[in-house]
Amino acid sequence: MAGDSELDPYRMVQELAEDGDEIPERFICKDTPYGLITASLPLMDIPVIDLSRLSSSSATTDEELEKLQSALSSWGCFQVINHGIEFCLLDELRENGRQFLKLPMKDKQKYARAASEIEGYGNDMILYENQTLDWTDRIYLLVSPEDGRKLQYWPEDPKSFRVVLEEYTTRVKMIVETLLKSMAKALNLPDNSFLNQYGERPVMYTRYNFYPPCPRPDLVHGVKPHADGSAITVLQQDEEVEGLQFLKDNQWFRVPIRPHALIVNVGDEIEVMSNGIFKSPLHRALTNSAKERISVATFCSPEVGKEIGSVEELINDKNPRLYKTYKTVKDYPEIFFKYYQQGKRPIDAVKLYSS
Ligand code: OGA
Ligand code: NI
Repeated sequence: MAGDSELDPYRMVQELAEDGDEIPERFICKDTPYGLITASLPLMDIPVIDLSRLSSSSATTDEELEKLQSALSSWGCFQVINHGIEFCLLDELRENGRQFLKLPMKDKQKYARAASEIEGYGNDMILYENQTLDWTDRIYLLVSPEDGRKLQYWPEDPKSFRVVLEEYTTRVKMIVETLLKSMAKALNLPDNSFLNQYGERPVMYTRYNFYPPCPRPDLVHGVKPHADGSAITVLQQDEEVEGLQFLKDNQWFRVPIRPHALIVNVGDEIEVMSNGIFKSPLHRALTNSAKERISVATFCSPEVGKEIGSVEELINDKNPRLYKTYKTVKDYPEIFFKYYQQGKRPIDAVKLYSS
């Protein structure tokens, strides 16, 4: 079963999956500190937030803010409905990923990620000799700020790939701004407390995650347990195939599929800004032996040069500052990828006290 044939670092997981039952040794997870890799788990009672209630000020707004506060201080995530993005745009976004995946490998390789870079079409980045690899291929693109886009990595086939992703980016940017305002309100802070740190030119990456079928879903991760380094992550799940799980109180829960809802989770930057009130949750994705799975994640972070720190109004004698302040895009990505690939939590690097 477990082949230890030399792994060609440029060989895509999609090709390994098409080859048959052999799983190269480097993908096999030997250590599961957060619990076994299994889908036999309870379904999560995931909070559902109605964005239209947050953005209008109506009689139901306060109720929705309370739900938001409760969701983020317990799970760190929720499903968002009535988000205003047309369902056909969401379908097209995911479908474009599926169409791209069907292209011959030589056509996809035009967008290949360079070994040392993040952006492009590629598999798990290898940073460590003993790193266990995730069973996933990706297209990873900087989508904001617009003048930072590297269009050479943006697929031109299918034809609507670029325009659909551009439109989706605009919409996600607006949703995140609404959420950041609401999150401040939910903590009785001035509306712009988080937005001021986030800025007007956020750094946003969109990542298509492709999880080919895997002959032994119990031995590998689609994505290993991690928390996101972003302020907020917006994720469109596969419309049919489950796989995402969140950890709460040492127990994994499966995220249910709710067509056209988006999953939102806060990342480490919001945990820091909220001085630990909002939790950046650990999550992972599992593979499936029969079906491929596609998800589209957009990681939204403050603009370049912003300093991230716990909002002053949240600090007092009872609640001391828990995290160091740091420069977002400058300091964190390097810490993030190193910690992540070693299965450690990058946020520990900015904690003032070890817990
Ligand atoms: C991620 C992630 C989950 C999924 O890309 O950071 O957590 O369901 N993805 O693909
Ligand atoms: Ni994630």
